[in-house]
Amino acid sequence: MSTSMDSSAPDIATLGTVSIVEGKSRTLCFNIRKKVFIEEQGVPAGVELDGKDDTAIHVLAKDTQQQPCGAARLLIEDGSVDDRERVREMVGKIGRVSVLREHRGKGFGRSIIRFSVDHLRLLGCVKAKLGAQTHAIPFYENLGFVVSEKCAEYTAAGGVPHRDMEKLL
Ligand SMILES: CC(C)(COP(=O)(O)OP(=O)(O)OC[C@H]1O[C@@H](n2cnc3c(N)ncnc32)[C@H](O)[C@@H]1OP(=O)(O)O)[C@@H](O)C(=O)NCCC(=O)NCCS
Repeated sequence: MSTSMDSSAPDIATLGTVSIVEGKSRTLCFNIRKKVFIEEQGVPAGVELDGKDDTAIHVLAKDTQQQPCGAARLLIEDGSVDDRERVREMVGKIGRVSVLREHRGKGFGRSIIRFSVDHLRLLGCVKAKLGAQTHAIPFYENLGFVVSEKCAEYTAAGGVPHRDMEKLL
C-alpha cells in the first residue's frame, strides 16, 4: 500500500486495504455512496449518480474482515490544449469521498485520500482538487489540501455547502 503515514496515524495495513476496483466490483463503491450521500445526507439520487462514473477511477476501502467500508472516485482532467495553444497539465479531481458511519474516526477516510493522491501522482497529475463539504474542510486541511481562494463557498446540486480545495502533487 503506497500511503505515507504520520507516526501517530494508524497504518492502513492495520485497518484493512484500499484499492482501485473495476467492473462489477464498482457496485461496492456505489452501495457505500448510496448509504452515505443519498440515505444519510439526503442528496437526490439523480445528483449522486451524475453520469460520470463510467469514466472515473473507483477507490474502495475494506476492513480487515474484507467488508467494504469506504469509497471515493477520481476524475482526470487531461492535458488538453487551451485557446492559446498551451498544453494544460493534468489535474485529478477526488470526489464522492465516503466512509460508512460505523467505520468513521478510525483512519479510513485519511487512507482513502492518501491512496487517491498517490494514485493521481503516479498517473502524472500535477494537482489534486476536490469540492469539500464545508464540515469536512479541516479533514482535508490535515491532509495538505488548501481552500482555493479563487472560488467562494457554493451550494452544490444536492443542497450541501461546499468550498473548492486543492493540493499540488
Ligand atoms: C469525512 C469522512 C470521509 C472522514 O472519514 P473518517 O474515516 O471518519 O476520517 P478519519 O478517521 O480518517 O479521520 C482523519 C482525521 O480527520 C479528522 N476528521 C474526520 N472527519 C472530520 C470532519 N468532518 N471534520 C473535521 N475533522 C475530521 C479526524 O478526527 C482525524 O483527525 P486526527 O488525525 O487528528 O485523528 C467521513 O466522515 C464521511 O464519510 N462523512 C460523510 C460523507 C462526507 O461528508 N464526505 C465528504 C464529502 S466532501
